[in-house]
Amino acid sequence: MQPAPVLCGIGTSLPDRVVTNDDLAARLDTSDEWIRTRTGIRERRVVDPGTATGDLAHAAAQGALKSAGSAEVDLLILATTTPDHPCPATAPDVAQRLGLTGIPAWDLGAVCSGFVYGLACASSFVRSGAATRVLVVGADTYSTITDPDDRSTRAIFGDGAGAVVVRAGTPDEDGAIGPVSLGSDGSQRDAIIVEAGGSRRPLTDAHTTPDGRYFTMRGRTVFRHAVERMAQSAEKVRAEAGWSTEDVDCLVAHQANARIIDAVAARMGVAPERCATSIERLGNTAAASLPLALAEAARSGRLHTGDRVLLTAFGGGATWGAAALTWPDVTPMSI
Ligand code: UT7
Repeated sequence: MQPAPVLCGIGTSLPDRVVTNDDLAARLDTSDEWIRTRTGIRERRVVDPGTATGDLAHAAAQGALKSAGSAEVDLLILATTTPDHPCPATAPDVAQRLGLTGIPAWDLGAVCSGFVYGLACASSFVRSGAATRVLVVGADTYSTITDPDDRSTRAIFGDGAGAVVVRAGTPDEDGAIGPVSLGSDGSQRDAIIVEAGGSRRPLTDAHTTPDGRYFTMRGRTVFRHAVERMAQSAEKVRAEAGWSTEDVDCLVAHQANARIIDAVAARMGVAPERCATSIERLGNTAAASLPLALAEAARSGRLHTGDRVLLTAFGGGATWGAAALTWPDVTPMSI
């Protein structure tokens, strides 16, 4: 019988520094009231200078391995938009720091959908028999690419990392990952973009302005597409899993905005109390948002062993994706 991918460990890592809405309002033209009512965010974590995405990814991966009860891994995928360097990928360095030198390790660029994309890759490797234990890490430090003077992005994003271990098992086990769906639409490439620093607009280009280095987002456009795509893809995997809407114990949508999460749940007919959320304390942590929300839901008792879980995400590209799984008997670990 073909092996089934089974989630068997989860770890998280957050920077110590908390930045509240009032902290932001002290230097930007914004307010706690605006940020809370428009996004649901009260505070976020931010790295100190010198701490890189790879550091958070490494710590989250250590937690996931501890949670899984084994350091054995034969593949590592790191979903991130904020690698330690434009070149090389950060994943081999993280693997080496974990004592996993020699395994295949690569970065995956699907912006805020990166974790679901990584989970899909891990599932396929496990199903095909090409891997038996895969580390999937989602890690981002958007504080390193957002403009300190831009209230529209600075208020939303936070830094963090989450990681899971996916092992070969059977489809009836708790933790089994079922249907996965992915999609993209390149016509939306400008809605979320860092204009400069790639081959189309190198940093060395004479026309590159300092602003071109920063992350920008057309919020309203992204909002609309995020709701539509996340709801659609989650509905697709729900139906493929053979679950009714009432069967869904926990909907974990990308933590982009509390209003987006509410709108996705409303479209799907999932009650708000069945939604996991970590946005209030962490903001939008990009590729880390789903594993961080999962870990928070497990720690708070919101998630129980055997619960039917739907993950859904939307990100720059545009990219989106969803996955269905049952929740395993695991304790999230943070190092
Ligand atoms: O992770 C990838 C996916 N990302 C998302 O899904 C994010 C989706 N978008 C959103 O969550 C929302 O669009 C935002 C939270 C980014 C913005 O909320 P909005 O309600 O869509 O506001 P808006 O962009 O339409 O801006 C309305 C006003 C503007 O001022 P004017 O032009 O009307 O004078 C903005 O400049 O709100 C202003 N504004 C702010 N005001 C105070 C934007 N950010 C802030 C802020 N504080 N932090």
